[in-house]
Amino acid sequence: MAPDLLIGFIVGLFVSAGCSAREASQIARALVGANLYGHDSHGVQMAPLYVANLRAGLAMPGQSPRIVADHGAIVGLDGQRGFGPSIGETAMSIAIERASAHGCCMLGLSNTHHLGRIGQWAEQCAEARLASVHFVNVLSTPLVTPWGGSDARLGTNPFCVGVPHEPHPLILDYATSKVALGKVRVAQDRGERMASGVLIDAAGEPTDDPAVMFQDPIGALLPFGEHKGFALAVMCELLGGALSGGSVQHQHPRPNPMINNMLSLVFAPDKLTSREALAQQVERLSAWLKASPASQGSSILLPGESERIMARERERNGIPLARRTREALGACARDLGIDDDLGPVNGP
Ligand SMILES: NC(=O)c1ccc[n+]([C@@H]2O[C@H](COP(=O)([O-])OP(=O)(O)OC[C@H]3O[C@@H](n4cnc5c(N)ncnc54)[C@H](O)[C@@H]3O)[C@@H](O)[C@H]2O)c1
Repeated sequence: MAPDLLIGFIVGLFVSAGCSAREASQIARALVGANLYGHDSHGVQMAPLYVANLRAGLAMPGQSPRIVADHGAIVGLDGQRGFGPSIGETAMSIAIERASAHGCCMLGLSNTHHLGRIGQWAEQCAEARLASVHFVNVLSTPLVTPWGGSDARLGTNPFCVGVPHEPHPLILDYATSKVALGKVRVAQDRGERMASGVLIDAAGEPTDDPAVMFQDPIGALLPFGEHKGFALAVMCELLGGALSGGSVQHQHPRPNPMINNMLSLVFAPDKLTSREALAQQVERLSAWLKASPASQGSSILLPGESERIMARERERNGIPLARRTREALGACARDLGIDDDLGPVNGP
C-alpha cells in the first residue's frame, strides 16, 4: 500500500474522531513512519485502538504539554493524556530549545497517551544535531515478567539512544521485552509457535503458544537479555516513570489507557568534543566494526540502519497490511461514518 494513501486514510479517521487536521496528520505520519521503518507493531494497526481510547476519554485530542516544573535546563511537562505524536513533538521542541541554550536538557514528560516509536524523538533531536537518551515506562496491562518471576508486572518499557551523524544518525530503539507484543499477535494470527525462551503461560511455565498473551489470566513475555534486560526495564520504570513526575507500574490488572512516561536527556555533543571529531570517531568505529568478517551470510548493521533499509524498500514497493489490520481499519472507518477507500488486503 502506498504510504501517502495510508497517511490520507488515517488523517481522515482522526479528523472524523475529533482531532484537528494538524494533529491528525502528526498521528498519521508517526504511525505510517513506524510501518515504513518495519515496526508494524507500532504502525497503523494502532489507529483503531487510539480512536477507541479517544472515544472512551482515555486519550485527549487537542492537548498541549503543561509545564509543571521549570529550572532552565530541567523541565517537567504533563502530557495531559494528549496524543503522543503531537505531545511528543512539542515536548522535544522544548528540550531542543533548552539544550541549545544550556548545552543540555533533562526533560520529564509524564501522562502522555502512547508515544509510539521512541526513535522518532531521538531522530528529532539528532536533526537539531543533539544526542539524546530516553527512558520510557508504559502504564497499561502489564505484559512482561520480572527476571525470576512468574507473572506479568511490567510494560514493554522502551529504551532509546540517538547520536547525531551525517548523513544518518545512529538510533538504538527497542523494547526491554524479548519481543514486542505485536510480534506475538502475528504468530497467533498465522497459527505459528513462538521461539522458546520468549513466553511463559499464566501458571508461570515456559511455553511457545502465542495464545497465552490473549487470554485471561494472561501469560507474560520475558525480558530481553535475561537479568540485564530486566534491570534496564526497572530503570525505565524509575527514570521514565518516577523521575519524570509520572508513576511506576504497581497494580494488576489495569484498564488499557496506554499511558507513557518518559525521561529524556538531550545534549549538545560539541560541548565535550568538536562536531568534526565526533564525526571522525563515528566513521572510525563504523569502519572498524563493518570490517569484521560476516558470519553465515549476515551483514553488520549499526543501530538505525535496518530501519533505513526497510524504509527504502517499503517506499519503493509499498507497506504490506496484514488482513487483520486491514479489516480493523475498515471497521473503524465504518464506525466513524467515513468511506473505506483503502483497497484490498495486500499482506499476510
Ligand atoms: N511507546 C511504547 O510504549 C513502546 C513500547 C515498546 C516498544 N516501543 C517501540 O517499538 C519499536 C520496536 O521495538 P522492538 O523491541 O521490537 O525493536 P527491535 O527488537 O526490532 O530492535 C530495534 C533496534 O535494534 C536495532 N537493530 C536491528 N537489527 C540490528 C542489527 N543487525 N545490528 C544492530 N542493531 C540492529 C535497530 O536499529 C533498532 O535500534 C521501537 O520503536 C520502540 O520504541 C514503544
